[in-house]
Amino acid sequence: MRYLTIALTKGRLAKKTLEMFEKIGITCEEMKDPDSRKLIFVNEELGLRFFLAKGPDVPTYVEYGAADIGVVGKDTIMEEGRRLYEVLDLGFGKCRMCVCGPAEAEELLKHHELIRVATKYPGIAKDYFYNKKHQTVEIIKLNGSIELAPIVGLSEVIVDIVETGSTLRENGLQVLEEVCPLSARMVVNQVSMKMENDRITKLIRSLKEVI
Ligand code: PRP
Repeated sequence: MRYLTIALTKGRLAKKTLEMFEKIGITCEEMKDPDSRKLIFVNEELGLRFFLAKGPDVPTYVEYGAADIGVVGKDTIMEEGRRLYEVLDLGFGKCRMCVCGPAEAEELLKHHELIRVATKYPGIAKDYFYNKKHQTVEIIKLNGSIELAPIVGLSEVIVDIVETGSTLRENGLQVLEEVCPLSARMVVNQVSMKMENDRITKLIRSLKEVI
């Protein structure tokens, strides 16, 4: 039997995914060792192979077929724009992609002013402002701690993930507009979906029962 390869997003998402897989009888004991630096794990009995990758790389592995299946956030799927099938909302890792800023920035958004938008997600921000809102903005790509940008005057607003909202609150910012809801999704390589249809659909069906 050929291994079915599953790419997981390193960190909290991988942990949650493995918990969900355990519920349907798929375990990978080796993967639970917090001190391990190993990146790839095999379950010989089930013919499964798991590996851990950085979120933005998961859709890449899946598009090229290096992984048959991936589990990754909807934000990353949207930003990467890879050719793959999104087959299942796993229901965890729930948060929202939002336009945020100080309360005063609300007026700038309303009047379609030419503002600067800082974000880790330039693709999502561009699609939202250009295609949905028809507002011309200047997008500035950052790599983290996005909430800093409006505080120090780099941008008027940000497009970022909001989960509990505490980062915003503690920095005097608020949600101004919601772009879309987010959560962890299962994605499948387009060729694998045909070649391994039985095994993949069985996996999806089992997961649906525990979601
Ligand atoms: C994310 C996101 C926000 C924060 C939202 O950042 O970019 O900053 O979490 O969570 P909250 O609404 O519960 O406060 P992350 O911690 O992943 O780090 P980053 O800023 O380096 O992207």
